[in-house]
Amino acid sequence: MQVSGSAFLVTGAASGLGAACARMIVAGGGKVVLADISEAGGNALAAELGASARFARTDVADEASAKAAVAAGLAAFGSLHGVINCAGVAIGEKILGKEGPHALASFTRVIQINLIGSFNLTRLAAEAISKNTPNADGERGVIIYTASVAAFDGQIGQAAYSASKAGLAGMTLPVARELARYGIRVMTIAPGIFETPMLKGMPVEVQESLGKMVPFPPRLGRPDEYASLVAEIIRNPMLNGEVIRLDGAIRMQPK
Ligand SMILES: NC(=O)c1ccc[n+]([C@@H]2O[C@H](COP(=O)([O-])OP(=O)(O)OC[C@H]3O[C@@H](n4cnc5c(N)ncnc54)[C@H](O)[C@@H]3O)[C@@H](O)[C@H]2O)c1
Repeated sequence: MQVSGSAFLVTGAASGLGAACARMIVAGGGKVVLADISEAGGNALAAELGASARFARTDVADEASAKAAVAAGLAAFGSLHGVINCAGVAIGEKILGKEGPHALASFTRVIQINLIGSFNLTRLAAEAISKNTPNADGERGVIIYTASVAAFDGQIGQAAYSASKAGLAGMTLPVARELARYGIRVMTIAPGIFETPMLKGMPVEVQESLGKMVPFPPRLGRPDEYASLVAEIIRNPMLNGEVIRLDGAIRMQPK
C-alpha cells in the first residue's frame, strides 16, 4: 500500500509519535484525520499540515466519538486506508503503594484508553476499510497498534500500562488472521523510550540516564524514527500479524 494517495486516521495525532506519523503521511502525499482528545494540539497540527489534514476531536475510548472520527475521515477524503493507533496514557502506580492499594479506577482507565480505544477504532475502521476496492496486491488497508516494550519487560508500577500494551500485542495475530480475508493487514510496534512531550517533561538528567540505558544508539528514539517504521509497514505487504520492537536493544530493568 502506498502512502501517496491514501487516507489514514491517526489517533493521538496531536502530539509525539502520532504527530510524527501525521507529518510523514502528508509529506508522502497522503491524507490524514488527526484524531485526538486535545483540541489545542489537534487544531495547531491541522493548521500546519493544511488541506491534506483534518482534525476530529476524538476520545478513542468512546463509541460515538470514534464513530464520528471515522465518519469525518470518509466525508473529508472519500475512503480510509488505515488506522495508526497512537493515543495512549501512561501511569506509574504500585499495587501496594504508600497511599494503599492500586486504585481500580486508574487501572481501568489505562485499559479503557490504550487497549479498548485501539479495539474500538479497529472494529469501526475495519468496516470502512473493507468497502475499499483492493489494490493490485489485493490490499484494502492496514491497522497499526502502538504497544511498548513494557508489554514484555514492564517495570514495577507498570501493571496497568503493561497489561494494556500486552493486550495489543496479544490481539495483533487474531485480528490479522480475521481481517486477512478483506486484505487488511495488522501490525504492532513496541517502542522503547522515545523523545516525545511525555518524556521531554522529565528533567534532562533523567532523560539522559534513560538514554544511556539503550545499548545502541545510546539515546532516546526520535518520533520520526517511529514514523519511518510506520511508513515501511504501510508499504511492505509481507508485514502482517507481528509485533516489532523498535528499541535500540533496550531491556527494561525491574525499576
Ligand atoms: N514516548 C515513549 O517513550 C513511548 C514508549 C512506548 C510506547 N509509547 C506509546 O506511544 C503512544 C504515543 O505516545 P507519545 O509518547 O507520543 O505520548 P504523547 O503524550 O506525546 O501523545 C499521546 C497523545 O494521545 C492523546 N490521547 C490521550 N488520551 C486520548 C483519548 N482518550 N482519545 C484520544 N486521544 C488521546 C493525547 O492527547 C496525546 O496527544 C502511546 O500509546 C504510548 O503509550 C510511547
